[in-house]
Amino acid sequence: MGIEYLKAEGLFRLTAGDTEYVIGIADGKYVGHVYFGKAIDDSRCGYLMRTEEPPFVPSRNPGEKGSFADAFFWEYSTWGVGDYRESCLNVRTAGGSRGCELHYEGYRILEGKPGLKGLPATFCRDEENGGGMTLEIFCRDQVLGLKAVLRYSVFEDSPAVIRSVELINEGQETLYLEKVLTACLDMDLEEGDLLTLGGSWARERHMIRRPLAFGKQLVSSFRGESGHQDHPFLAVMEKGAGRERGQVYAMHFVYSGNFMAEAEVSQFDNVRMVMGIHPEGFEWVLKPGVSFTAPEVVCVYSDQGLDKMTHIFHDLYRGHLIRSHYLHKKRPILINNWEATYFDFDSGRLLEIAEEAARRGIEMLVMDDGWFGKREKPAGSLGDWTVNEEKLPGGLPRLVKEVEKLGLSFGIWFEPEMISPDSDLYRAHPDWAMHLPGREPVQSRAQYVLDLSRAEVVDYVYESVAAILRSAPVSYVKWDMNRQMTDVGSAVLGREHQGELFHRYILGVYELQERLMKEFPDLLLENCASGGARFDPGMLYYSPQIWCSDDTDAVERLAIQEGTALLYPLGAIGAHVSACPNHITGRMTPFRTRGHVAMAGTFGYELDITKLPEEEKQMIQNQVETYHRFQPLVREGDYYRIASWAENRRYDCWEVVSKDRREALVTFVQVLAEPNRHSRKLFLKGLDPEAEYCLEGSGRVYKGALLMYGGFLVQPMKGDFMSQMYHFTVNYER
Ligand code: DGJ
Repeated sequence: MGIEYLKAEGLFRLTAGDTEYVIGIADGKYVGHVYFGKAIDDSRCGYLMRTEEPPFVPSRNPGEKGSFADAFFWEYSTWGVGDYRESCLNVRTAGGSRGCELHYEGYRILEGKPGLKGLPATFCRDEENGGGMTLEIFCRDQVLGLKAVLRYSVFEDSPAVIRSVELINEGQETLYLEKVLTACLDMDLEEGDLLTLGGSWARERHMIRRPLAFGKQLVSSFRGESGHQDHPFLAVMEKGAGRERGQVYAMHFVYSGNFMAEAEVSQFDNVRMVMGIHPEGFEWVLKPGVSFTAPEVVCVYSDQGLDKMTHIFHDLYRGHLIRSHYLHKKRPILINNWEATYFDFDSGRLLEIAEEAARRGIEMLVMDDGWFGKREKPAGSLGDWTVNEEKLPGGLPRLVKEVEKLGLSFGIWFEPEMISPDSDLYRAHPDWAMHLPGREPVQSRAQYVLDLSRAEVVDYVYESVAAILRSAPVSYVKWDMNRQMTDVGSAVLGREHQGELFHRYILGVYELQERLMKEFPDLLLENCASGGARFDPGMLYYSPQIWCSDDTDAVERLAIQEGTALLYPLGAIGAHVSACPNHITGRMTPFRTRGHVAMAGTFGYELDITKLPEEEKQMIQNQVETYHRFQPLVREGDYYRIASWAENRRYDCWEVVSKDRREALVTFVQVLAEPNRHSRKLFLKGLDPEAEYCLEGSGRVYKGALLMYGGFLVQPMKGDFMSQMYHFTVNYER
């Protein structure tokens, strides 16, 4: 790892693992992109900026500055001065004119990586900031008096390059930031594909691959959250690239609010990737002396397809993003009462569930929605965070005590960001709900969204959640958020600042969770948003695990978890076994398969255990044992996708290999049974080719090379939705 300035060549070179990122300065002022890819270690690479060919740099050919601007590979493109591709920055002056041109002024190379105030960000785990470096490139628009700091960080143990940008108004006049994306990445790529993640509620983060096409291809959200529908991720893959082969350039946004991510194929067959806060509904007022920091973007290059990209993201997030001390710890196996009871519960019902759960080895009871105010259905009482003592006589202290007596710890659900029209809070403070003057706010799930740009609202929310947590020994919080935003207006922000509300809202969420983690450092926080609508790297900074989807159907989960695990380590993926027929799809799947699928995540149950047949209760005991055995491997290992049901519509397979390659766990799901089939050959990955692997329970031994290149044979099973786990270990010292 290193960052250096090559003075003679005027280049900045960042090296991280086997990856190199090179930045050049053209004409002494234009910050250009030279290279991002496999390390080349040749300081003569500056010619890649193409400044020695027409239209040349503006000092040599001033009459064609426009042509230069529209073809140059910019590190940070600005709007209005000749680059017609998607720009990162657009600024309006108090006089109403738009346009910005940033010229290079200088640089600074720092040890470590500074945090981003109020924002989630990757960090050096070493307390002294060791193991990381940051390059700051200073630029200025003289006319606007705007300074820009382009930041690039690298870590010793990761090939990723982390980017962010800070804008500082050093002029005399107020500036209006109409668009601030974090990064653009220009590259030559004549043919390739675009990979994104998308879907809907209960179908989150399916992988979507399509050919790159001339023009702009966009994924985005202006729902106030990263969303079920799109994900703040974008990968450009060279033609023919796959899981193990080919070049992949990826961007992932460490942010949980509105975003845009776009790939644009322009007139010269170049591709530009951009990522940042969605400009729709955004405007930031930048007074003189004030700065604005855009959330960071993780840039990843892989020369070995998606598998390598996945490993880079997993290792980066485990090593440099998740802060919770649960990161490397076993998570409690929980049972959540949502699908067991919905709103229809009281202490008695919860304790019945807890008692049976304790008997079967489950470790925590989580009380979901419906324990507060007068809430009996998904309407009403949000904001009134007082325990409903009719349901829970003696309040939380008594219930938690009873649960603990059974040997379980206790977790609780909140939806802190919301307010119900039918709530005491709304009756007292109707203006705390986001709304637009003269309009009745749109209800969604019969609720409004709190204006978290207001300090007094943030304080109220924090104190209501904290008071509950102070009242009893609560070990876990599920932080939910069940609607997307409309009527994004604040009663107090002032006319000029309404365009800041989306972003200020998310800053409010981050502040709340930061405060929570400070006061309750031992709390296990699980974020959730109507299933997986805010599953993003931003939230991962605050909670080590996120609820993946409300869809707990084992088959549907295959595609959802495949897409999620493309970027996120399995230990971050909330996954539970639920009852059948599945409440969303109506599908019947074997209990065993549901267990196998949920074990590719944090693992838990979400069903009425008291109503299960004895046979399934006993299976829970087995699953609990299996989880205990394999959870360190699943949480810490390297994940490989072997086959994808989303692609082949017949079977699914993934593998987790320990970092020392002495252990591997393969999970195979036969989604549809087929008649007259021979065994299926699977090619395992990531093993030590020379090592001898024993397959547990079979007495068989295979060389790693045999399993990877010759293949492993999986016998057909009778019935749909069947699954099998295969555990391989190297049982000798080398
Ligand atoms: C949506 C969540 O995803 C569910 O798990 C559940 O907590 C409900 N909200 C409760 O309202």
